Amino acid sequence: MRYDVFADDRQSALPPVTGGPGQTAGSTGPVSTGLASTPGTSDSSESVGRMEVESLSKYYETKTGIREVIKDLTLSIPEGRVTAIMGPSGCGKSALINLLAGYEKPSGGRITIDRLPVTGAGPDRLVVFQETALFPWLTTFENVAYGPKIRKELKGEKLGEVIMNLLRTVGLDEFRDKYPSQLSGGMQRRAELVRALVNRPKVMLLDEPFRGLDAMTRSLMRDYYLELFERHKSTQVFVTSELDEGLLIADRLAIVTNRPGQIKKILDINLPRPRDESLRGDPRYLALKAEALELLHEEAVKSFKAGAVNSADFVGAYAALG
Ligand SMILES: Nc1ncnc2c1ncn2[C@@H]1O[C@H](COP(=O)(O)OP(=O)(O)OP(=O)(O)O)[C@@H](O)[C@H]1O
Ligand SMILES: [Mg+2]
Repeated sequence: MRYDVFADDRQSALPPVTGGPGQTAGSTGPVSTGLASTPGTSDSSESVGRMEVESLSKYYETKTGIREVIKDLTLSIPEGRVTAIMGPSGCGKSALINLLAGYEKPSGGRITIDRLPVTGAGPDRLVVFQETALFPWLTTFENVAYGPKIRKELKGEKLGEVIMNLLRTVGLDEFRDKYPSQLSGGMQRRAELVRALVNRPKVMLLDEPFRGLDAMTRSLMRDYYLELFERHKSTQVFVTSELDEGLLIADRLAIVTNRPGQIKKILDINLPRPRDESLRGDPRYLALKAEALELLHEEAVKSFKAGAVNSADFVGAYAALG
């Protein structure tokens, strides 16, 4: 069973998130977070958190013309798996996350979740950004409890138990009454992961959530993330710039080309779970790493060359000013 965030024994008493035929997954859509059943939507087998991206394109109109950021990008995001996204800086990874979240509209192509077109943001998809989004005036516990409380879905003792179980998993139970300013950066990230999970989205979209943390905290965060994922498997799209992080967490690693972003290659990371650091010495791991490194390097070189042309233009323009 997949939607088992609320139980240690991997059995959830709560119904899965549902969405029925003919509906769209957007701000006006009927998809619920799953803490309470959605009336009139009974076909839970249809609703598993699978996303499809078909011939997606995104461009922006800028002062200097049209900037093509994503071009003809096609990607399947299977349910209950981690799809990691890697590619050079500026290749459109964050743009892709924003499109999957429904925060922005595609310029072309389409995105579906469980076969329903994504027409806007919805509670079935939840984004975890690099910057903390915890409310500074609420304690750790209150921050995590905020979503379920607002929706009046779980209350009192049951809610407390659920949240404390999750906080314990990430070593934050002792910090339940502290405010975000009293937590370290790593603790804030952990609280954020728990807050995301407690809202039980069908799909979690993570845009470099551990960027900016020191190396040791980052590897600990990865372990916490892996443990949470193993327990509560849900669909994950995880953008990272760290290859080892990508290889250790992902079931599939999608490598994006230099801008305009397209899928260059998808590597199946068929490594056993649960995973930990010891995998790094595994010959299969090393082979995948070498392959990914070569692909990423090719794109980084292209990106660097494109950047060099731009900076030369900039220097030229600056020189022309006299
Ligand atoms: N609103 C916008 N208007 C114009 N251009 C934009 C806009 N948003 C993003 N871009 C451009 O789209 C490109 C892709 O940006 P994006 O942030 O998705 O890259 P990224 O792959 O996430 O990079 P990084 O690894 O540095 O986070 C960049 O060249 C950026 O300048
Ligand atoms: Mg980005």
